[in-house]
Amino acid sequence: MNPSDHSISEQGAFNLFSEESVKNPFPLFAQMRAMGSVIPIPNPMGGTGQAWMILRMEEAMQVLKDHARFTVDPTTIDGNNDIRAGLADKADPSAPPTFFTGKSMLFVDEPDHRRLRVLVSKAFTPKFMEGLRPRVQEIADELLDRVQARGEMDIVKDYAYPLPINVISEMLGVPQADREQIHVWSGALARGLGFGKQEPEVAEHLRAFGMYTAKLVADKRQHPADDLISQLIAIEEEGDRLNEEELISMISLLIFAGHETTSNLIATGTLMLLDHPEQLERLTKDLSLVPSAVEELLRFNGPATASGPRFATEDTELAGQRIKKGDMVIPLLKSANRDEHQFSQPEELDITRTMNRHLAFGYGIHMCLGAPLARVEADVAFTTLLRRMPNLRLSIPRDNVAWHFALSSQGLASLPVTF
Ligand code: HEM
Repeated sequence: MNPSDHSISEQGAFNLFSEESVKNPFPLFAQMRAMGSVIPIPNPMGGTGQAWMILRMEEAMQVLKDHARFTVDPTTIDGNNDIRAGLADKADPSAPPTFFTGKSMLFVDEPDHRRLRVLVSKAFTPKFMEGLRPRVQEIADELLDRVQARGEMDIVKDYAYPLPINVISEMLGVPQADREQIHVWSGALARGLGFGKQEPEVAEHLRAFGMYTAKLVADKRQHPADDLISQLIAIEEEGDRLNEEELISMISLLIFAGHETTSNLIATGTLMLLDHPEQLERLTKDLSLVPSAVEELLRFNGPATASGPRFATEDTELAGQRIKKGDMVIPLLKSANRDEHQFSQPEELDITRTMNRHLAFGYGIHMCLGAPLARVEADVAFTTLLRRMPNLRLSIPRDNVAWHFALSSQGLASLPVTF
């Protein structure tokens, strides 16, 4: 890499983290990919350790599957790089844990990861999810019934947000009245938890979300019901498979991960289709294409810009770069999904594309637990929307569409349409 490349990589990283390229980061990713599969960037947490951006699919998969060489938990190496420690410092130490400050499956390695994931994995199998399809359909229809006569709606507020939060809340047993407040917290967390961003109110939201989850668990302990939270409480009470901190972290993870990302897939996916009228028309005419369109929308502009960071457990080499023990490594999923080495015409949206894989749900042991649920929800959401509202049109100038930037899950602030 020559010195001018280095400045592009610094500039690129800066732009990416500073919301500048939020509307369309893909030209920047292409520029960075041209420089290499693995490139050094300034440490987004401002620490002294080196950070690396992984731009291509092969190397991203290597990092995500090799959990001996790359850990999700830097405290197992040393504390210096810990982005969560920084946040936890600001939080009230007496506050209840959350998925971010406590011990959730996303942030632990084997064998704890497997122990935690196995406790809920049965509730997220594709077969179990198919059983939920009629209820997801009912919710989608109820939401569209409310706006059908109006001839206009905000896709985000009226459809993409309420659909997944109602589904996951029913699975978990989260009361209806609490869902709006949860949306406020998790929206703030999704936007506040990016690398290099530690807005002061994030610690406050984390604390409030943790307190809420702890209270929910206490209530359910008194009044168990036929839901996932009650099942997890029963497991915790059995003894040695799940402790209280893990229980609360797990529930806050399922609530948070279970709706924010899927809402973004539905809203951004709709916008991507509106941006490609010929693809939208084709899909509207043949709704059997929805499952393949969903995969393509995930590849083309899926919600997660990057997976969580990984940290090298030893000095190692990746695509010719020397990664030092403790360095932070960030697989850029959206760039890997546009990798010219993997896809023909990767910058084109093609809802009939056949592909071996994309990385929108991550890869390896931490690959998204909720992928089968997200797929059923997106399938029902797009099929129902296009069947009932085949003349969907954006009702504001395209340039006025406002994005929310978040590395974990990027989405739209609103998407007004007519139909
Ligand atoms: C389109 C929607 C979704 C996208 C794009 C998405 C994306 C992801 C990604 C990229 C990861 C891996 C993160 C990493 O390796 O650092 C992940 C993990 C996870 N996701 Fe999702 N997700 C979605 C929906 C859901 C839903 C509906 C749930 C339901 C509860 C969920 C629960 C989880 C959990 C629990 C993990 C952690 C898994 C582990 O560490 O073993 N996600 N998701």
